[in-house]
Amino acid sequence: MDLKGKVAIVTGGNSGIGAAIVWKLAQEGANVVIDFVSHPESANELEKKILALGDQAIGVHADVSQIQDLQLLIDTAVKKFGRIDILVNNAGIETRTSILDTTETQYQKVLDINLKSAFFGTQIAAQQMIKQGGGGSIINITSVHEDWPMPGNLPYCLAKGGMRMLTRTAGLELAKYKIRVVGVGPGAVATPINLSTMNDPQLMKKLDTAIPLGRMAKPEEIASVVAFLASDGAAYMTATSVFVDGGLMHQSPGL
Ligand SMILES: NC(=O)c1ccc[n+]([C@@H]2O[C@H](COP(=O)([O-])OP(=O)(O)OC[C@H]3O[C@@H](n4cnc5c(N)ncnc54)[C@H](O)[C@@H]3O)[C@@H](O)[C@H]2O)c1
Repeated sequence: MDLKGKVAIVTGGNSGIGAAIVWKLAQEGANVVIDFVSHPESANELEKKILALGDQAIGVHADVSQIQDLQLLIDTAVKKFGRIDILVNNAGIETRTSILDTTETQYQKVLDINLKSAFFGTQIAAQQMIKQGGGGSIINITSVHEDWPMPGNLPYCLAKGGMRMLTRTAGLELAKYKIRVVGVGPGAVATPINLSTMNDPQLMKKLDTAIPLGRMAKPEEIASVVAFLASDGAAYMTATSVFVDGGLMHQSPGL
């Protein structure tokens, strides 16, 4: 998984899965732009850790729901490292609300941070990749919920389902430029987004029982798949998703 000389941007790169992806890409030799919207100290720490590796990193404050902030991420990558080869659309939130109680504000926020950001991030990154030539890869962090309905979490399912079609359609549109678009759908991963579940032993037991591999994933187990997908080893993969879920989506109902 040699990513030496490649330039990557990871949105929501200072926490959970995003931070693990930043670290893995840097370990494989990439220069990394770490996007953060809160907790600048964690982005700074990661930046320092990467600089100690000998690779380069820069933290950038950008709210991915704003197109001008997405443009800032791409512009920073080009200014600091000369190009962009890899975009990981990772930033995401959920509201855990249903069709009956989701407000317009909640709907808008979840769709903007998960889906609009990935749509326009892909657009702006692809424009730059076409301009510089040589292709690139765009990895969308979706979820098992790009396919799997989750009652009580409808805006999130809509956003991740939208990212599934973004991945497939943009993958086809951009193939002629050698830009690959691939989705990564994690199952349950031990990150801050799941803190309430992780703090509830009964819920954790239920979850572990439902997962065929018997446990939540570690963020690093998602990051290693992303690094492979960003590498030349995955040169023939586009317009599709890979699920990293310990078998969760295809669990037997026990019949
Ligand atoms: N943890 C899981 O079980 C799981 C499962 C499937 C998919 N995912 C997806 O993985 C991705 C990362 O989630 P995580 O589990 O690491 O949770 P997390 O809460 O640790 O990370 C989410 C990141 O998104 C960032 N973010 C939120 N709003 C933003 C904005 N407006 N602009 C820029 N960044 C913003 C946060 O600051 C944070 O860095 C999300 O897209 C999530 O939907 C997580």
